[in-house]
Amino acid sequence: MIPPTRPLPCSAAIRKSRRTMTTDPPIDNTAAGVFHPGDLVLLIDRKRRKYLIRLQPGDRFHSHAGLLPHDDMIGRQEGGEFRTDRGGVYLAIRPSLNDYILTMKRGATPIYPKDIGAILTYGDVCPGATVVEAGIGSGALTIALLRAVGESGRVYSYESREDFAALAQRNIAGFLPDVLASRLVVHLRDIYDGGIAESSVDRVMLDLPEPWRVIPHARRSMRPGGIFLAYVPTTLQLHRLWQELDAEPAFGLIDQFEVALRPWDAGPQSLRPAHRMVAHTGFITTARRLATAG
Ligand SMILES: C[S@@+](CC[C@H](N)C(=O)[O-])C[C@H]1O[C@@H](n2cnc3c(N)ncnc32)[C@H](O)[C@@H]1O
Repeated sequence: MIPPTRPLPCSAAIRKSRRTMTTDPPIDNTAAGVFHPGDLVLLIDRKRRKYLIRLQPGDRFHSHAGLLPHDDMIGRQEGGEFRTDRGGVYLAIRPSLNDYILTMKRGATPIYPKDIGAILTYGDVCPGATVVEAGIGSGALTIALLRAVGESGRVYSYESREDFAALAQRNIAGFLPDVLASRLVVHLRDIYDGGIAESSVDRVMLDLPEPWRVIPHARRSMRPGGIFLAYVPTTLQLHRLWQELDAEPAFGLIDQFEVALRPWDAGPQSLRPAHRMVAHTGFITTARRLATAG
């Protein structure tokens, strides 16, 4: 058990958050209840195919199974089934973050939800934290970071491509309430050459090809105790990153791992691993910013 007097890794950020607390009402993305105009809805057919729509009065969802008027869903409870004019049946629910990431528009490859979960936990992203991220890509990780830092935290995202930055910001605004989306600042620039403008950063989260080129910038901008995290798809990148972090005295406690998720198929007479799985996505590296070097 951690003694109560010992500061927790994110305690500095939490203290900061107490100072900057606003009077906005708390966010409740899980709010139960009826569908409203403007809500995102995930329609799921009997074959588990998923379609993401936004409810607009007077609009209709078109599919091979027929037409489903949005007005049929507006004012009705989430989790119900709705019929098209040709008898097709769709279950209608609000998308989870996982659903949204897998159905939203993509530019660059987004980080998979299984890895995002580990990144938030092993990166210890907490309410009130100041996080620097690069690159923004499709915005999948950014959405999760914004939810985790909450309305008193900040996410500064560096992205070199204008089209990706624009798409990511549309994806973010499409899922998060303004009070969270507004905690994002996008820097449209190359983080390798341009560096990091922020100081006393709690977390640096990297998903780009050469994360080791950000180490000198992270060293200058991070507070001691902060967590550096990078996500890379290949072992060559993984090892190069380890070598460069190991050679930098300002970083220590390097850990490297991957997350394997094996789905299972359950039925009345069987329970077994699914035939298909996403066998590999990427490797996660974490390191702590130490106080021993400037
Ligand atoms: C794999 S994608 C990131 C995906 C993102 N994490 C997500 O979950 O949607 C990599 C992104 O890094 C950006 N990028 C690559 N090199 C960069 C650099 N030197 N500075 C800033 N962004 C960079 C790319 O343009 C691309 O958008």
